[in-house]
Amino acid sequence: MYSRFLAMYNISSLKYILLSAALFLSAALKAQFHIIPQPVSIKAGSGSIVLAKNAVIGVNKETEPVGRYLQDYLNQNYNLQATVKVYEQIPAKTPIRLNNVWSNQEGAYTMHVSNASVSISGNGAGVFYGVQSLIQLLPTDKGVPLKVAACTIADQPRFGWRGLSLDVSRHFFTVDEVKKYIDVMAHYKLNTFHWHLTDDEGWRIQIDKYPKLTEVGAKISYYAKRGEFRKLDNLIDDGRDGFYTKDEIRDVIKYAQDRFVTILPEIEMPGHSEAAIFAYPQLGCQDSTGAKHRVRMLDPGEYTFKFMEDVLTEVIELFPNQYVHIGGDEAEMVDWLKSPTAVSLMKREHLKNEKEVQSYFIKRIEKFLLSKNKRLVGWDEILQGGLAESATVMSWQGEAGGIAAAKMRHHVVMTPLPYMYFDAPQANEDLEPIGWNPPVTWQMVYNYEPQSKELTNAEAEYILGAQGNIWNEKVPNAQHLQYMVYPRALAVAELTWSPKNEKNLDRFGWKMKNQYGLFKLWDFNARLPDIDGIDDVVTNKSRFKVTLNYPLKGAKVRYSLNGKMPDANSSAVAFPVKINVPLKDSIGLRTFTTWTLNDQHIRQTANVKRVTIRVAHVKAANLKPGIAYEIFKTKEQQIARLEGEKPAETGVTSLVVPVKSTGDETINWVKIKGFIKINKEADYELTSGFEVTPALFLDAVPVIKPGLNTYVEHQNALLHLKKGVYALTGNYMANKANENQTLIELKVDGGEKLYPKFYLVH
Ligand code: ACM
Repeated sequence: MYSRFLAMYNISSLKYILLSAALFLSAALKAQFHIIPQPVSIKAGSGSIVLAKNAVIGVNKETEPVGRYLQDYLNQNYNLQATVKVYEQIPAKTPIRLNNVWSNQEGAYTMHVSNASVSISGNGAGVFYGVQSLIQLLPTDKGVPLKVAACTIADQPRFGWRGLSLDVSRHFFTVDEVKKYIDVMAHYKLNTFHWHLTDDEGWRIQIDKYPKLTEVGAKISYYAKRGEFRKLDNLIDDGRDGFYTKDEIRDVIKYAQDRFVTILPEIEMPGHSEAAIFAYPQLGCQDSTGAKHRVRMLDPGEYTFKFMEDVLTEVIELFPNQYVHIGGDEAEMVDWLKSPTAVSLMKREHLKNEKEVQSYFIKRIEKFLLSKNKRLVGWDEILQGGLAESATVMSWQGEAGGIAAAKMRHHVVMTPLPYMYFDAPQANEDLEPIGWNPPVTWQMVYNYEPQSKELTNAEAEYILGAQGNIWNEKVPNAQHLQYMVYPRALAVAELTWSPKNEKNLDRFGWKMKNQYGLFKLWDFNARLPDIDGIDDVVTNKSRFKVTLNYPLKGAKVRYSLNGKMPDANSSAVAFPVKINVPLKDSIGLRTFTTWTLNDQHIRQTANVKRVTIRVAHVKAANLKPGIAYEIFKTKEQQIARLEGEKPAETGVTSLVVPVKSTGDETINWVKIKGFIKINKEADYELTSGFEVTPALFLDAVPVIKPGLNTYVEHQNALLHLKKGVYALTGNYMANKANENQTLIELKVDGGEKLYPKFYLVH
């Protein structure tokens, strides 16, 4: 990561070394404390405190609820019976003190742990967030003394919107399951729970005025099984029915409020409304012959508007949030062109096309919400046909909608595909449970920046924050939900809370692995971390040696070297595993890792291939620093077809190839050509720092194969190289994922990264 960071600056090698050392030291210091999200400032103190069995939590009137929350937490997780004492002025010798102090930054807090006491001060949510930092500093093994290392923290959030969604329509989740989801998000200082309550596959909220919404619309799976509703073929199974009564919703809202989580209710319109239409067919869009196809679109007539206003009135009565989400995504607007209601509406209101009908629909709903003092949130499609006056846009189809809205001075929540979509698998999709999209790794999530470079500082102020989304067609139960959302949600927590300049992928990865003690304590089924160092390898060596390490104590691994995937019946060994075998041609390493978490297992694979690499017959003295590059601006998807074409730009570089985004359909293809100069015979490891892997060839032998997702199947070339130069070529399609990243990284095997200026020549 350091090299990626440094690649952004063209700095001298001396500075590189000094800066590396400084970053390493500060990272190591802060790494003693594995708090996620990373606090703004954390300083280690000397000594530690052990929370006594009968510890007193001193609070005042304002902080008493948080004191009771901490008391419950310690009791439930450690069986520690703390006492809460309410004071006007909390005495200084009270072991745990929760003080409210004024700050103009919502959620700000300070925490001071000495060897005598823990003192947390903050405003509003601040004390609660301080308590979360304290919780993360506690040991996670039951029965050990609750020792907390001395430290001083000053902290506050970067963004006010730190969100996570939950789709309860495609599969219903119970009140207890929803509470657990909220509980864990609050532990990581996430503060907005977006509850996707209605969709085609189920209506999940009691509405008194329209009882069939829940009597019929919440039982879609039941009706589908009887053949009275279409086949639910997008779902992984037959679905899961249910709905929340108003009392249950009030109970969840209270539970969330106690954790400083705001609930954003979503009532989908005008598309994704099949369950409501099934319950009340008059809502549905009909053509003059009567629609025979799947009707998911609301008819834009007065019956529908009255119905939705009635529904929203009851929703507003329940939810205190200033925002209401009305969906607006993926509406099948062409249905309106055949609807007599829509056609006459278009005539009456002079609407030119179906997009303007959608805009009319959303604006009318916005007007109603504003009359009730509520603000409208919608998916980015609500930009089409004209954005409602004060709408907040959730940008999901990439960032373009969010950028456009921010430029129009509208508030935006960034939740773009692919980074914020947790229905995608989080590793190699052949080895993971089925998902909707190509893999999205925690690293991809972590590297996401909500304030796009395309925005001016003033425009960037309109970005309220970011949110991770999950759609549950393929997520049938709570355990699987937890698996899909975590640990990726931890990356959302850090990228929305921590200062931008505190972002550090390596440190975050380390801290993330330290959360599994908590997950176990909470009986929470986060996806297990990967084994360190399972990479696809190209090597010219006659033995394959690797040590498999795992960050979680007590994990077991089954493995094979013959390409066959082990399973729960294969024999297991403990980590670390040392593999040292002769290599003739290729080896298929397959692993099956288990840990003491809900019998969960993860599978990983690596392929090891032996190649021959020859030194080039070129005099090193005749070569100049850097590698040559050519940039082709083209619509051509296939690099091979660029043979003989003239490049748009050429140049020489030691770090990054400076590719400017084309801003249209044109692709930037980059070809590189040069040599790697080796001064000393040794074992070397060559990788690419790219998120989307390039194709790299050494002596015309493929050593790094192009791929859509690195961090999924990381690749290394482990090469024994003699003194001399080796021909290096490569190509890649330049895009956002690889701008400012280091194309080639070389290090002595097991050693430090070398500085590219010293080994890249042409
Ligand atoms: C969405 O993913 N359709 C908002």
